Amino acid sequence: MAGFSASSQSKAMRFSVWWLVMAYAVFFVITWMFSWKIMNYFLSESLQTIFFIWAVFLSLVGFYDVRQRRHSILRNYPVIGHFRYLIELIRPEIRQYLLESDEESVPFSRVQRSLVYQRAKNLPSEQAFGSIADVYATGHEFLTHSLAPVPRNAPETFRIDIGNAQCAHPYSASIFNISAMSFGALSANAIRALNAGAWRGGFYQDTGEGSISPYHLEHKGDLVWELGTGYFGCRDENGNFDPARFAEKAALPTVKMIEIKLNQGAKPGHGVVLPKEKISPIVAQVRGIPMGQNCASPSAHPAFRTPLQMMEFIQKLRELSQGKPVGFKLCIGRPSEFMSIVKAMLQTGIYPDFIVVDGSEGGTGAAPVEFTSHMGMPLREGLLLVRNVLVGAGLREHVKIGAAGKIISAFDIVRALALGADWTNSARGFLFAVGCVQSMSCQNNKCPTGVATQDEERQKALDVVSKTERVYRFHRNTLISLSEMLAAAGLTHPAEIRPEHLLVRVREVEVRTYAQRYRFLLPGELLTGTDVPPFYRQAWDGASAESFHHPPPSA
Ligand SMILES: Cc1cc2nc3c(=O)[nH]c(=O)nc-3n(C[C@H](O)[C@H](O)[C@H](O)COP(=O)(O)O)c2cc1C
Repeated sequence: MAGFSASSQSKAMRFSVWWLVMAYAVFFVITWMFSWKIMNYFLSESLQTIFFIWAVFLSLVGFYDVRQRRHSILRNYPVIGHFRYLIELIRPEIRQYLLESDEESVPFSRVQRSLVYQRAKNLPSEQAFGSIADVYATGHEFLTHSLAPVPRNAPETFRIDIGNAQCAHPYSASIFNISAMSFGALSANAIRALNAGAWRGGFYQDTGEGSISPYHLEHKGDLVWELGTGYFGCRDENGNFDPARFAEKAALPTVKMIEIKLNQGAKPGHGVVLPKEKISPIVAQVRGIPMGQNCASPSAHPAFRTPLQMMEFIQKLRELSQGKPVGFKLCIGRPSEFMSIVKAMLQTGIYPDFIVVDGSEGGTGAAPVEFTSHMGMPLREGLLLVRNVLVGAGLREHVKIGAAGKIISAFDIVRALALGADWTNSARGFLFAVGCVQSMSCQNNKCPTGVATQDEERQKALDVVSKTERVYRFHRNTLISLSEMLAAAGLTHPAEIRPEHLLVRVREVEVRTYAQRYRFLLPGELLTGTDVPPFYRQAWDGASAESFHHPPPSA
């Protein structure tokens, strides 16, 4: 007789659960037909019946599993294989609630999220028993305090004027605002709560590229209107920029600034297709697109192809908006390409009012993994480069710099300002304030807190009134914390923060100031300096205002 082969043994193990439930179902039928009462010693009759129903159901599931062709796991492990899918489904929750450590960033750590929740709820965010950070770890950063602290300044004064001499209506912005997130990525209620919070706190909400929805206008909070490559809200039927539609919306009193989005850190250079299934009547109306067909946002702007044309476009938007500040947002890719934009500023004499630098660590509703993790320059390097090129070209006084990329705490603001930013934006920080729990389901319309979904039922869970208050408090308490840090450092306004104020541990036995660690170019140095680092010199010399594209300098 042939032995029970290893492969048969393995199959017996894999199929055991399915065979067991079938065996129970058959056994139950036999005992019932012959009126045997043997099972009554172990289980009540009602329980036996419930088990029988389950056994029949699972037996049928097993038949389905071995016959279907989509999931190999289920063909090999009928019935029991479903547990894998169940556990996969709840893995993020198990990880977040039970396994994640306090400082593990996924992408925001529990410590960071808790800080936002506490500030948003007006709960004390002080910590007992000292720091849990390893202050001797390489990369640990700290602000130097002063032996002559000054009185704390009111956070309301932490504002910055945006708009150079070429703009008729400069805007006084808070130094901490809500970064671009579209209606479409976010629910109507999330947009409402963010906007109402911005209104209460006197800061701005960036519309994101999905245009200005009615929910952005209900509460009269300040708006920065972002124009992506799809020109939503100001496009013609072919997707090109429509000046008349732009002028109409730009004239809205709550629109304070116009931001051309070149790209964003989480998916730089990646066009987006909005599938027709997601184009509801309200989305179609807000974006100015037809229903029933996919809508593509190209990866580059159809309105300009060269840096010189981009400057002309900026000037055109300024005129069409009756002189509101116009700037652009980008994540740095090739340094020489950014330099070609700055050369175009020099050549045309047209200066954007601001540049918002986004870091590759930035968030998004949805993007390919390769883009989120391996494309684009992180905020610190990108910000320093933008600051250096503007200073080096002698243009810093004309162009203000904003920064976004995991800015959650007052210290994150300090760090960005020390590297050259004038103000900061946060996207996911404000999402936490409106209730986001980092379930990372923005892309599947199943956001558990109603923040990033278009599902009518789910978004009802987001109470606009209470979340408005949280948005307001998160902003306010963060700036109060900033004012306390500044006072302890002997400073009265964020604009006084300098690279010398910040220290970073570069190795176990050495700390350096930001001024020592990074090379900060001097005013006009790129134009006339003789000691410019080769990296800057090569890229600057290779850049031309005629084209974005320059071959990277060979080593
Ligand atoms: C849900 C979501 C939607 C976003 N939509 C846009 C957008 O429409 N336009 C844009 O420029 N950036 C968009 N961003 C990027 C943010 O504006 C921001 O630049 C980036 O997330 C970095 O900020 P954070 O680290 O505080 O989230 C989005 C981010 C998130 C999380």
